[in-house]
Amino acid sequence: MCGIVGYVGKKQADSILIEGLKKLEYRGYDSSGIAIHNLSGIKIIKTNGRIKNLEQRISEKRIEGCLGIAHTRWATHGKPSDENSHPHSNKSSTIAVVHNGIIENYMELKEKLKEQGYEFISETDTEVVAHLLDLHYKGNIVDALIGTIKELKGSYALGVLCKDEPDKLISVRKDSPLIIGIGKEGNFIASDIPAVLEHTKDLYLLSDNEIAIITEQNIEIIDINKNKVDKEIFKVTWDLVSAEKAGYEHFMLKEIEEQPKVVKDTLYQRLKPDSNKINLDEINLDKEVLDKINKIYMVACGTAYNVVVVGKYLIERLARIPVVAEVASEFRYRDPIIDSDTLVIVISQSGETADTLAALRLAKEHGARTIGIVNVVGSTIARECDDIFYTLAGPEIAVASTKAYSAQLIAMYLVSCYIAMQKGYISDEEFTMFRNSLLNISDNIKQILKDENKIKEISNKYKECSNVFYIGRGLDYAVAKEGSLKLKEITYIHSEAYEAGELKHGPIALIHDNTLVVGIATDENLFEKTMNNLKEVKARGAKILAITILGKEEIMDVADDVIYLPKTEWIFTSILANIPQQLIAYYMSVLLGHDVDKPRNLAKSVTVE
Ligand code: F6R
Repeated sequence: MCGIVGYVGKKQADSILIEGLKKLEYRGYDSSGIAIHNLSGIKIIKTNGRIKNLEQRISEKRIEGCLGIAHTRWATHGKPSDENSHPHSNKSSTIAVVHNGIIENYMELKEKLKEQGYEFISETDTEVVAHLLDLHYKGNIVDALIGTIKELKGSYALGVLCKDEPDKLISVRKDSPLIIGIGKEGNFIASDIPAVLEHTKDLYLLSDNEIAIITEQNIEIIDINKNKVDKEIFKVTWDLVSAEKAGYEHFMLKEIEEQPKVVKDTLYQRLKPDSNKINLDEINLDKEVLDKINKIYMVACGTAYNVVVVGKYLIERLARIPVVAEVASEFRYRDPIIDSDTLVIVISQSGETADTLAALRLAKEHGARTIGIVNVVGSTIARECDDIFYTLAGPEIAVASTKAYSAQLIAMYLVSCYIAMQKGYISDEEFTMFRNSLLNISDNIKQILKDENKIKEISNKYKECSNVFYIGRGLDYAVAKEGSLKLKEITYIHSEAYEAGELKHGPIALIHDNTLVVGIATDENLFEKTMNNLKEVKARGAKILAITILGKEEIMDVADDVIYLPKTEWIFTSILANIPQQLIAYYMSVLLGHDVDKPRNLAKSVTVE
């Protein structure tokens, strides 16, 4: 989603801002723009398309100045165009603003402003902010901003410049991410850490409706009543190299290949190789708490939702507590039954997904205990849930999530097993089996990655298909959902995931000659059942690509191609089965010539509804 960068300091702002925007490209965007305060006034350049178009325009007429804001826009209100790009300004161009989020009452505000003589030149919701700032400006931009945000409904991260206050960069956020970078030769604002990492690892994390007044030498943070807010400095522990391609052609491939490490890191922080317990000490899930819990909601979006589907199978199977797995955008509006005996687990890579955050807040309002499984340290969801389990996937840049999914699965297995142990459902012997299998997962993934060339050949064979079905039963179905999502995201090939047994209740009508069916059949107990479903589609002309475990060679009777996974306890095969699915989607996308890391229409961090 939209990216914001702002800078005030000793250096020329334009190149710093452009480099910052490039670090936010992964968020997804369709236009970009920049505003520089050059002491005589505010100059704005903005353009549709990629950042290189903006660079081109800037090289034609460079604007000197050490204070500026910049933006990548992911269109929500109005098509991608020069006019709709940010920054937006008031009529006299004395105030400029960039915005991430959605102003929900913008129509109402627009009418009010029009009645007062304001003219609008864009279709965006953001332009109302520029005119409201103008309306409220009586010689102090901070007061104008406070007056403005009091009128706004919705979500916003804002960066503001004012011609008459040439040393100040002003910023505020509500329900949209924004960080403040504390530099040696100037200070920054940004939507995400990679944009400032070249300059500083020291940050302030703004909370809702905190306002930052930033100059070259100073950062002051106040609340909406102008009370000073003291903030602790947040230190980033990873470096820019972790957020760069390191010789790989695409971030996605780099991130797929990082999975053995990511899985190990996430696992080892909680489960030591010689230990007979999982360390979730700071997450308050002791027996007394768990005995009161009569229902668990697990809530997330997209790939993280596919993890909660795995979680439902695991917790119900291992810990015998009913679990509802639900997408956050539904959960938040359907008045779910939540009380203090409900546990709500939310999962989010970014920790900023608007629907997941809203679901978390709803759960808290109703008195539920909340746990977040989150990748980005210090993100809003991480800060707001009662207890937090950080996945240690490191920065994930490719829009399509891969390593975060695997790390989230590890977290899910650990939490499920922990709950089951607390409830007395897992014996010491079972725990030993569980621990040993989990500790092997990283090596199992390495082994699968060695088959990359074979998977590339298979991808080449099927890359022209136009419809794909992913089918499986139980945990294999949960994995199939993720395979299907990954394929459609980055190859634009239509695909569906179905519970294998459900096909004959309708979808089988779509199977005809050469429809590709990817059959996930790793669960020993359900293998025969899935085999039968594969035979049914084979009989109707489908081509079959099967993913199963070593030792199940009989699947070759029905499958056109087979990918074998190393043997592990059946309950863990879901972690492994997804690795070839990721590689298939990746190679098909590359072979089809798509922009793998930045698929069309998608954004990395979905901070609006
Ligand atoms: C898919 C993908 C998205 C995200 C979803 C939730 O590859 O990345 O479906 O999983 O937008 O994002 P987070 O996990 O940041 O809440």
